[in-house]
Amino acid sequence: MKFVRFIMKNAALASVPKHIEHFSKFSPSPLSMKQFLDFGSINACEKTSFVFLRQELPVRLSNIMKEINLLPDRLLTTPSVQMVQSWYIQSLMEILHFLDKNPDDHRVLGEFVDALVTIRNRHNDVVPTMAQGIIEYKEAFPQDVVTNQNIQYFLDRFYMSRISIRMLINQHTLIFDGTTNPVHPNTIGSIDPHCQVGDVVQDAFHSAKMLCDQYYLRSPDLVLQEMSRKITFQIALIPHLLNNFSLIMFKLSCLQNAMRATIETHESSNNLPPIQVLVSLGGEDMSIKVSDRGGGVAFRRIENLFSYLYSTAPAPQIGEHTRPPLAGFGYGLPISRLYAKYFQGDLQLYTMEGYGTDAVIYLKALSTDSIERLPVYNKTALKNYKVSQEADDWCVPSKEPLDLSSYKVAKAK
Ligand SMILES: Nc1ncnc2c1ncn2[C@@H]1O[C@H](COP(=O)(O)OP(=O)(O)O)[C@@H](O)[C@H]1O
Ligand SMILES: [Mg+2]
Repeated sequence: MKFVRFIMKNAALASVPKHIEHFSKFSPSPLSMKQFLDFGSINACEKTSFVFLRQELPVRLSNIMKEINLLPDRLLTTPSVQMVQSWYIQSLMEILHFLDKNPDDHRVLGEFVDALVTIRNRHNDVVPTMAQGIIEYKEAFPQDVVTNQNIQYFLDRFYMSRISIRMLINQHTLIFDGTTNPVHPNTIGSIDPHCQVGDVVQDAFHSAKMLCDQYYLRSPDLVLQEMSRKITFQIALIPHLLNNFSLIMFKLSCLQNAMRATIETHESSNNLPPIQVLVSLGGEDMSIKVSDRGGGVAFRRIENLFSYLYSTAPAPQIGEHTRPPLAGFGYGLPISRLYAKYFQGDLQLYTMEGYGTDAVIYLKALSTDSIERLPVYNKTALKNYKVSQEADDWCVPSKEPLDLSSYKVAKAK
């Protein structure tokens, strides 16, 4: 019996590349926030959602699995990346199992919700595991510019794909598990249609403040300012993802960075300059600016702050949820930026070394403009992995002082 199962499992595994090939030929279908909201409120139909997801999830998984295969061998073969890849294969197979199932059968729909929960749990630790893989790779091999660019390009797309897959899974499981959310009874899945940005900022600030007080025994104050035409304020805030938004604000993020920078720069002073948050709603954008006087960062370093490879933080422990407060493993900014970009927004840092930093989060004000931004595997993506290292077309300034006495004739290239 065991042997038969073994053969069957291997046969299923052998067919995986064929499935990936097939589903990666489809482009993912981006959904708008309006579609997420309408679907959850007016015509929430579990059967329709099931039929959509059993096709869309394999498409999103396969598109990104093609890109995992393009990673440099030396990274792809690290135990951590192998593990992540095996989770993707396992989850793909579990969803494919539903392809020939009857959508009118209630048992099938129930099993599908259970399968999605299992898949979501399986992938909980993808980010630290992948980060571990990067560290293993960095320790074992010398770095080169092209590989580093590829890895940055890949991880932005890979994590974005993951955010989107988890969003689909969360919406389906939360809407169709037959219960209401006790904390936020009016939410549609993970979306709060009446989200008040000011309140989210206050909550996020208080959570960050608690951590800050515990660790540093003091914390800066918040000065919150909301700019908008009053009447439209609530209505236009309808489309914001409570979950993702508070993630940007708190879990992974700008307020924590601002607090830490403020405290560390004003260590010997009795007064801490407050953190100022300005929320502004226009016809197209909703922007949130977090300003601190934490000493800023050198302009040259900004790009590195968004890099998964140049992060200087110590290696994350898998399953570890007790990091020192306010400092993560250096992925706060790049991942927060992905959350902002996911619905066509952005996150930018404007910093003045010696003074402080403004972090600006841009989000779309309208639910019809908030459309998922999804990576697609195609020739252009493939080309991005195939770039080779070419000579820079700008001179690289020499660190050595130029000795004009030995200056001869310009060197041939
Ligand atoms: N507001 C800020 N002021 C000064 N430095 C900052 C600020 N935001 C980010 N940084 C710098 O960028 C680094 C990376 O930030 P982040 O991606 O959030 O990772 P982490 O907080 O885990 O270190 C921080 O360690 C810090 O050195
Ligand atoms: Mg941080």
